[in-house]
Amino acid sequence: MSENSRSVVVVGATSGIGLAVARRLSERGDRLVLVARDEQRLHAVAAELPGPAVVAPADVTDAEAVERAVAAGVTAYGGVDGAVTTAQSMAYGTVEQVEPEILEHIVDVAVDGTANLARALLPRFRDAGGGHLVVVSSLLAEIAVPSMGAYCAAKWGQLGLVRALQNEVRRESGLHVSLVLPGAVDTPIYRQAATYAGRVGSAPPPVVSPERVADACVRRLDRPRRAQHVGPANLLAVAGFRVLPAVYDRAVARMVDAVVLRGPRSGDDPGNVLRPRPDREGLRGGWTTGGRLRAGGRPRWRG
Ligand SMILES: NC(=O)c1ccc[n+]([C@@H]2O[C@H](COP(=O)([O-])OP(=O)(O)OC[C@H]3O[C@@H](n4cnc5c(N)ncnc54)[C@H](OP(=O)(O)O)[C@@H]3O)[C@@H](O)[C@H]2O)c1
Repeated sequence: MSENSRSVVVVGATSGIGLAVARRLSERGDRLVLVARDEQRLHAVAAELPGPAVVAPADVTDAEAVERAVAAGVTAYGGVDGAVTTAQSMAYGTVEQVEPEILEHIVDVAVDGTANLARALLPRFRDAGGGHLVVVSSLLAEIAVPSMGAYCAAKWGQLGLVRALQNEVRRESGLHVSLVLPGAVDTPIYRQAATYAGRVGSAPPPVVSPERVADACVRRLDRPRRAQHVGPANLLAVAGFRVLPAVYDRAVARMVDAVVLRGPRSGDDPGNVLRPRPDREGLRGGWTTGGRLRAGGRPRWRG
């Protein structure tokens, strides 16, 4: 893939990591196709970027809309030779608490959505003589956490799909799929999430910046790698989950109550799962590295 004149599809470009990726790529001269569900937010993002960007609204679970979005890149730039997808929503609550339709859609976004993107992108990459897809996964693709079962199922499913995909394209020269697996990141995802747990979710420390994850995505676009974790505690958490499952299980239940579900009380809220919530989007969520929320005045542990 040429590093000089790339056209890159950025999925999830209106918020958090996807927005940070769009800014990084645009600043260095890449031509972008911006994808998310909310068209107005997409136009607002396109207007603030320094370089060319076409807007292509699509829900990744809609195969035809995804196909149209990728085709828009081919029409605008003559081809597409890179993509980063960050699209995802999440929900708090036990498997019994979360509405079935919400759980299903969260899994669909990760699994069907990623498959739809692969089906639309890979033929275009071949036409362009090569191309790289970067899928933003999660630490929660490799560990399980109570009250986040919908998200774990989504990310474990996506991981299986992407690892299979990596093997399917392995022998094709110039085609690559990389995974980036962040721990907690300072983005609006926590306030966008659905909740059926009686509380708004909070970012568990250590929290990294969206730019740090975006930089990892841009590096993988240049130099693909099977998988890259981003987060100082990720490998420790994965090791604990795999090597000491009984100890992990006892600790994680307490951690979820004390850290993940320490936010304000909330009634059931479908968040942005079925419909975008542009009013809750932005680059950051306001979390410090230590997991405190900056909401006017001193950062607070309890939101
Ligand atoms: N933030 C974290 O702590 C964290 C940690 C680990 C992994 N991650 C992963 O990082 C990625 C980005 O998360 P983020 O924190 O940047 O989230 P975010 O700020 O909530 O942004 C999510 C983006 O995805 C888009 N999106 C959501 N559902 C979509 C759908 N069905 N079709 C198309 N676009 C959709 C949203 O726009 P619309 O709503 O307009 O569609 C938005 O642009 C996700 O894959 C997430 O799982 C995040």
